[in-house]
Amino acid sequence: MSHVSFYRKWRPQTFADVIGQDRVTRTLANAITANRIVHAYLFSGHRGTGKTTTARILAKALNCERGPTATPCNVCAACRAIGGGVSLDVIEIDAASNRGIDEIRDLREKVKLVPVEGRYKVYIIDEAHMLTAEAANALLKTLEEPPPHAVFILVTTEPNRLPATITSRTQRFDFRRIPQAAIVDRLRTIAASEGITVDDEALQLIARSADGALRDAESVLDQLSAFCQGRVTKADVLSVLGLIEEEVAQQVTDAVVAGDAAACLEIANRVIAEGRDVRQILRSLVERGDPPEDPDSDRRGSRGPVRHPAQGRSGDGVVEAEPSGNGRLDRRAGGAARGPGASGVPRGRGKGRECRAPPGPPKA
Ligand SMILES: Nc1ncnc2c1ncn2[C@@H]1O[C@H](COP(=O)(O)OP(=O)(O)OP(=O)(O)O)[C@@H](O)[C@H]1O
Ligand SMILES: [Mg+2]
Ligand SMILES: [Zn+2]
Repeated sequence: MSHVSFYRKWRPQTFADVIGQDRVTRTLANAITANRIVHAYLFSGHRGTGKTTTARILAKALNCERGPTATPCNVCAACRAIGGGVSLDVIEIDAASNRGIDEIRDLREKVKLVPVEGRYKVYIIDEAHMLTAEAANALLKTLEEPPPHAVFILVTTEPNRLPATITSRTQRFDFRRIPQAAIVDRLRTIAASEGITVDDEALQLIARSADGALRDAESVLDQLSAFCQGRVTKADVLSVLGLIEEEVAQQVTDAVVAGDAAACLEIANRVIAEGRDVRQILRSLVERGDPPEDPDSDRRGSRGPVRHPAQGRSGDGVVEAEPSGNGRLDRRAGGAARGPGASGVPRGRGKGRECRAPPGPPKA
């Protein structure tokens, strides 16, 4: 059987399984129990923190044959169809690829039709901030007068980019970055169940690099389980996350400061021989030269989500505050910014930023 990625395999199926979003899940569960279901929700917050997952659980809670219930059974036909993504009454729209007016016009026509199997027609509009202004306007009309059987769940990492006319018609739930300790616990459970031995230091490092996004942490563990035979160590994590480049950049910096050209050449020789990505090392070097940014504007500072442990850190890297709204467009340097399926090479910072060739050798 083909490999199912950890983050899909370990997707929570009930509100109780969702980690670190107690306020959201408790409020939703209470509302369902009290039959206070509204017709439009907005799930906003940092990537990989459970927004889409919770939207699907809410859809199940509304349409479960034993519901509406705060504890969907996950065995009835409706729950299974929703879980498998084949329910005719739960429509997921990726607004990033269906941005336009035509899709929303189509939605406006179809939303009038009664649900086929369940009680509610649930529209999950992912990346809702990507809708064009025209499409958002058309959606607004539906949100103003929705048919009684319709429930909209707008999902976004960038709530600030949604028009206030839309957000004001929704009940908003903010998803928080997941605390590092909770990520470590989850990774430990997954590792034990998947038969992977992971050193505690390695777990801590993965969790720290994920910057509150559980999906990122699960993806890294998945990658490591394929990459490592037997035991996963801290060194494996450093290597998979590409943090080794930081270490090399530090060595080059030390050699430059010491005016040791021979050492620089020796390091260059070694990294090329090891097949490392030289551009990434240059990028790490360039970032070291950047002036420090306002720490409040990005708690991760200017060097990306994880520094090499030898460099020390300011804070523990897990931000409990509400997301800044930068979402995926945050400038990120390290492996933590990688979503599933990304290459093993950490992204550079800022779009379009080029690595220039280093200046010629100093004239002695
Ligand atoms: N709060 C959480 N509790 C348990 N697992 C989680 C949680 N958040 C994320 N995950 C894991 O990460 C996977 C992806 O989560 P999900 O798709 O819900 O994230 P998201 O917030 O919608 O992210 P994005 O903004 O990138 O779309 C889940 O299938 C699950 O394995
Ligand atoms: Mg999502
Ligand atoms: Zn059910």
